[in-house]
Amino acid sequence: MRQQEKWWQKEVIYQIYPRSFYDSNQDGIGDIPGIIEKLDYLSDLGVTSLWICPIFQSPMADNGYDISDYFAISEEFGTLEDVKRLIAEAKARGIKIILDLVVNHTSDEHAWFQEALRDPKSKYRDYYIFKEGTEAPNNWRSIFGGSVWEKLPNEDIFYYHTFHKKQPDLNWENPALREEVYQMVTTWLEMGIAGFRIDAITFIKKDLTFKSQPADGVDGLVKCTKTSRNQPGIEVFLKELNERCFQKYDCVTVAEAPGVPYDQLDQFIGPDGFFSMIFDFKHADLDVASGSEWFKRVAWTPEDLFQILEESQLAIQTSGWGAPFIENHDQPRATSKYLLNQATNPLAVKAIGLMYFFLRGTPFIYQGQELGMINFERDGIDAFDDISSIDQYHRGMAEGLTADEALQIINLRSRDNSRTPVQWTAEPTVGFTEGTPWLPIAERSEVRNAAHQIATPDSIFQFYKAMIALKQNPALETLTLGEIAFPERQGKPVFLYRREDAGASYLIVVSLSEMRETITLERPVKAVHLYNSQDYTIDQHLLTLPAFGALVIEEEK
Ligand code: NOJ
Repeated sequence: MRQQEKWWQKEVIYQIYPRSFYDSNQDGIGDIPGIIEKLDYLSDLGVTSLWICPIFQSPMADNGYDISDYFAISEEFGTLEDVKRLIAEAKARGIKIILDLVVNHTSDEHAWFQEALRDPKSKYRDYYIFKEGTEAPNNWRSIFGGSVWEKLPNEDIFYYHTFHKKQPDLNWENPALREEVYQMVTTWLEMGIAGFRIDAITFIKKDLTFKSQPADGVDGLVKCTKTSRNQPGIEVFLKELNERCFQKYDCVTVAEAPGVPYDQLDQFIGPDGFFSMIFDFKHADLDVASGSEWFKRVAWTPEDLFQILEESQLAIQTSGWGAPFIENHDQPRATSKYLLNQATNPLAVKAIGLMYFFLRGTPFIYQGQELGMINFERDGIDAFDDISSIDQYHRGMAEGLTADEALQIINLRSRDNSRTPVQWTAEPTVGFTEGTPWLPIAERSEVRNAAHQIATPDSIFQFYKAMIALKQNPALETLTLGEIAFPERQGKPVFLYRREDAGASYLIVVSLSEMRETITLERPVKAVHLYNSQDYTIDQHLLTLPAFGALVIEEEK
């Protein structure tokens, strides 16, 4: 049986990293007027919502994920008026705006933190986590490396930060702090946004014993995820956040919630869950051990990838709705990660698009993904901007890698890979700016740019456009709302999934094989709605696909 339908189940969400999307004022940094200028492009592509990474006032230690004022817009991105104009202009094209909610931490330059430092007796002191001592209170390692504790200059006092030292964690145990957060969230919802992507939300509850744990690295520290991610008691905060803010609006919420085991999904995305959906990162991190330790590489096969996707989808379907994606601003390009030496093969790029796009959930497309953008190759650590890349490079060497090995891994994994400017044209600065881009471009390509692909009938852009159109075709609603099932994979690198309800049945077939493959079809074919290559044959129940062939088949019921 279908769950009650929600408007956000039919959305196609496009993620914008504003620094790198489009620069309207030629200062080398993308901005909000730049997004407005490209709304027609997005509307032509067919997406219905935009998730925009943080645009608030920030010293940019983590490119906006360090907010110093939740009510002001970063000058380099524009003004509050620009945001209002963006909401209105997007709405005029049937596009909704989703903002990024970063409430695990603020910037150390936020007025609350500054006041907490200035006056230890102020109420703001308890908005953060301070501990007295001459040494760090424990051996937990922050996500970006080093201790989670930063000592105040000239005082025997430390404050806690899950991420960078310029991102002090908020103390969610304090009801007054929570109240401030709820008011801020409500203000933005009142302004007409459609909802939030919610940053690092499973970190808001810590193990309050703050006990040291056995070290897991040569630095004597232990990754803080074991003691500060999805800890018992977090449900109290998340339920309250949902009741006080989200429930009052018909908004969409998608949480970055790593560390939620599948048997707890119900609490998060079930009928009374805290969020509309959460991202599952297992397939995105299949090439690294234990989440984000990039320097510990893991070998994988297409079969592993398919298995992870299948398990994730079946678990999510039991409780609620998914948020399928293959790229975001924290990941390298999916082309380079999943396709390796085939990263620039348009057929293969379209195949991985189809691999995830019709999974059960609301699909996300990250800027440039629809153009098949690829990773860069930098030749020294100085060329990197991302704090996480710099940390992983040094930690990798401390753990025994040579400088070359560490650099190679950073090139493969750096978050900068997806943060390079969107390639609009084949010009030297790829049509992103006439100034100097804040981050060097990934490549200047005659084919991997929007101008070329808009004008080319069988481009990757056109394929994404076709996938979106198919999803939005009311006659094919089953492709969005139907149940998902996974037919047996027949021992070949060919992924199969079925979307089905009482009225219709669709089979998505995606080959990641470099050779022709033949598979057996369980049911007669009624129609083929989409393919990336005409070079397939269907002979009774046998389907033969070219290398990286991918199809959407409608099956006879
Ligand atoms: C997750 C965000 O996606 C990432 O870019 C950021 O660095 C951390 N959270 C900290 O906010």
